[in-house]
Amino acid sequence: MSKTREKKMAAGHWTATIFIALIVGAIILSPVLEAVGGSIDEIIEDHKARGQLRIYHWWTAGGEREGIDAAFDHFAKQYPNVKVLSAPVSGGAGTNLKQIVKTQVVAGNAPEAFQCHPGYEMYPYYDADLLYPCNDVWGHADLEEKTPKVVQDVCKIGGDYYAVPIGVHRTNVVWYNKAMFKEYGIKPPEDPVTFDDFWGICDELSKKLPKGKYPLALGDRNNWPATHIFETLMAGVSPQTYENFINGKVTPQELEPVLEAFQKYLSYVPPDHRARTWDEACGMVCQGKCAMYIHGDWAKGYFVTNGWEYGVDYGTFPAPGTSDWYGLDADSFVRPKNSVNPKNGIRWQWSYTTQESQMAFNPPKGSVSPYRDVSTDIYDAYSKESAEALYDPHMRLYPSIAHGHGSPEKVVSNLNVIIGDFAQNPTDISGTARGIASRVRRVDHPIAWGIVE
Ligand code: GAL
Repeated sequence: MSKTREKKMAAGHWTATIFIALIVGAIILSPVLEAVGGSIDEIIEDHKARGQLRIYHWWTAGGEREGIDAAFDHFAKQYPNVKVLSAPVSGGAGTNLKQIVKTQVVAGNAPEAFQCHPGYEMYPYYDADLLYPCNDVWGHADLEEKTPKVVQDVCKIGGDYYAVPIGVHRTNVVWYNKAMFKEYGIKPPEDPVTFDDFWGICDELSKKLPKGKYPLALGDRNNWPATHIFETLMAGVSPQTYENFINGKVTPQELEPVLEAFQKYLSYVPPDHRARTWDEACGMVCQGKCAMYIHGDWAKGYFVTNGWEYGVDYGTFPAPGTSDWYGLDADSFVRPKNSVNPKNGIRWQWSYTTQESQMAFNPPKGSVSPYRDVSTDIYDAYSKESAEALYDPHMRLYPSIAHGHGSPEKVVSNLNVIIGDFAQNPTDISGTARGIASRVRRVDHPIAWGIVE
């Protein structure tokens, strides 16, 4: 805890031990440059470039939409003759987007870039040799100088960069409606927030809330918001269990207390939770129908877009048991092979790393910039705290599973189904624990995480 994060990284924590390799010396000419000709400087500095930029992303909800539109506006200023074809796929977290993009990329009709969480989520494309490395953009924009080591690490496979980050989110946050807390006489808990504190608030609210109002929200129409809560509770119940999970070694016995906590969470949510998406669940908090929600800080983007102010309309506290932990969810875009105009993919990635684009994108999105040269003056009070937490040397990081970093794709897609089913029918704890553990353990986990000292 007293060590700095950089030291922890250097000590091997977080680092992909099997794939670790160094980028030595100058940035080598990447295959994309060989394929399309020209130097990275010429490509980026050609502001008269033409052609298309087809981009797949999943940012369709309040806050997300404003963020990506701001980044597109900045790109259009930089490259006014490029035709931007934005292809949004709703549902959040990439669950629906992945299927659509995979089909196109495999069929050889790839977009110039698509949204993909850095880390394990990139592996299926990488393994099929369908991604260009992005060392060119990292080198041109000096990104290593500006980016926290942990974010660098998740963007690499085998020592090469395959993703360029656009924003960083914290996942382990409880969002609460301040007016409801006031009306029902609830005191927000003090740090560190324990499970007893959290369930205590839920019980008190349960007793006081009228019919049709609930202590907690959930919107798991696309399953992943349930997985998100499951993983957050797992980090709170036991970081060691979390580490064992992401290293492919978790046992059913370790998972049982996590599922018990999740079962308890589910006992406080509206019965029709599966009818809602993540943002509709945030809407329940805004409307005063649910008092709290465990979610990532893209929820802040939603609240701001809906006119809610931090400290006035809503407050936050760390999810139970995770006060000194930061659940990491970095967002990025990757460049697939077989697109019509790979140079525009390079221009897009470079464009959103610039200060102007970062300053326009992150505040409405609720994320913080992955780049240190972006001033924190651009943030509201919530995002300032989130940025401080990211850079706080006492804060420990864990990679989100639901958001593509912590576990291989096979594990995530199986987990989403099992957890989605459990959220509908939360009865069989030991059978569910066995089902999850066996699916985790039978998958190869090439990254060896060390999140617990
Ligand atoms: C996450 C993504 C966030 C947010 C969320 C809901 O996976 O990293 O930026 O957009 O999905 O769509």
